Amino acid sequence: MKAPNRTGQYVTQPEGHKAFIPKPLPPQPPIAMDPELTLLLSGADQALARLDGITITLPNPNLFVFMYVRHESVLSSQIEGTQSSMDDLLKYETQKKMRLTSDDVAETWNHVEAMNYGLERLKSFPLSLRLIREIHEKLLQGVRGQKKTPGDFRRSQNWVGGSSPQNAVYNPPPVHEMNTALDHFEKYLHQNKNYPILIECGLIHVQFETIHPFLDGNGRVGRLLITFLLCQRGILKYPLLYLSHYFKQHRQEYYNWLMKVRNEGDWEGWLKFFLQGIIEVSQQAQETAVKILALQTSTLELIAQKPGSSKFDLELFNHLFNHPYIKSADVQQLLGCSPATAIRILNNFENLKILEEITGTQRKKMYRFSQYLNLFRP
Ligand SMILES: Nc1ncnc2c1ncn2[C@@H]1O[C@H](COP(=O)(O)OP(=O)(O)OP(=O)(O)O)[C@@H](O)[C@H]1O
Ligand SMILES: [Mg+2]
Repeated sequence: MKAPNRTGQYVTQPEGHKAFIPKPLPPQPPIAMDPELTLLLSGADQALARLDGITITLPNPNLFVFMYVRHESVLSSQIEGTQSSMDDLLKYETQKKMRLTSDDVAETWNHVEAMNYGLERLKSFPLSLRLIREIHEKLLQGVRGQKKTPGDFRRSQNWVGGSSPQNAVYNPPPVHEMNTALDHFEKYLHQNKNYPILIECGLIHVQFETIHPFLDGNGRVGRLLITFLLCQRGILKYPLLYLSHYFKQHRQEYYNWLMKVRNEGDWEGWLKFFLQGIIEVSQQAQETAVKILALQTSTLELIAQKPGSSKFDLELFNHLFNHPYIKSADVQQLLGCSPATAIRILNNFENLKILEEITGTQRKKMYRFSQYLNLFRP
C-alpha cells in the first residue's frame, strides 16, 4: 500500500530547507502482506532456520562467529568507502601491540569491538537508546570519529548527500523532532509485537536511518541493530547473519528504497528487497559454513596422516581458525614450547600447505592460513 505521508512529511524549516518529520512505527495503513511478500517472508524464515540449524552441528560455532563478525565489519565499513580488507584487519590484530596500521583499519577494528560489545551487553540489557549510544561510542572512538561526538545524539541539523541542507539528498528531522522520534522508536523497540520479527527488523532499520540521530555512523549502527534484534529475539543462536554484503552489492538500490519509503510510503517494496537480502546472505553463510567444515575435516586428516604428528599440531590447528595469521612467537606462547619446536611445527604446516609464509624474509616470518581466509573473500 503506497501513500505519501504514510511515513512522515517534509516540513520547511526557518532556515529555508525542508526536513523530514517521521511518524512513529508501526506504519499506518498497516503492511499489506501480498502473496509475494508472504512468500519472501517464509523463504527468509526457512533460510535463517537452516543457517541456525547448521550452527548446532558445528564442533565450535564460535570459530565461525569470529570470522563472520570480522567479515561483516570489513564490509559494513566499506560501504562508506573505508579501505580496509580482511587481511589488513587480521594482520592488525596479530600485530596490534606493535603498531596501529591506519585509520581505516582502526575504524574496522572499532566495528568488531562494537559488535562484540553489543552482543555481550544484550545478554543482560535491553536494546534501548542507551545501548545504541554505547555502541556508537565504541564504533567512533579514537581515530577520525572523535570529532563526530561518539556516544552522543546530534545537537544540530544534519543532512545526507550534498554539502548543506539546501542541496542535500535528504534532511533528517531537526533536533527537537528527532528527540520525539527517538522516544517513539525506543518504545517500539520494547513493545515490538506487531509483525513477524524479520518484518520488524526491516521497519526498524529504515526508521533508524530516517531519524539519522548521529553526526556519523548511522549506517553502521543501523545495520548492527538488525543483527542485535535477531540475536535478542532468539532467532539466531549465533550472530551469523549479516546484510552488509548485500547492501554493498546493491548500494544504489538500498539508498533508493530508503528514499521511497520516506517519499512514497512504500514499506512493502522495501521489505521485499530486504527479505530477498536475508535469503541471499543466509544461503551464502550456510555454504561458507559447509566449506569450513569440509576444510576442517580434510586438514585434520592431513595432519593425522603425517608421521610423528603430536597434540601440538592439533592445538595449533584449532588456534588457526581464530588466528589465521600467526608468527613463531605466537606459537611458542600458545604451546609453551621452545623457539626451535615452534619453527619445526610451522615448517611442517608449510610443507603440508596448510600455512603459507608471506613475508619472504629470513626473520620475523608471518604465516597465513590461506585456504580458510579465501572462504571469506567478498
Ligand atoms: N543517496 C542516499 N540516499 C538515501 N540515503 C542515503 C544516501 N546516502 C547515504 N544514505 C544513508 O545514510 C547512511 C550513511 O550515514 P552515515 O554516514 O551517518 O553512516 P555511516 O555508517 O558512516 O556510513 P555508511 O552507511 O555509508 O557506511 C547510509 O547507510 C544510508 O542509510
Ligand atoms: Mg559516515
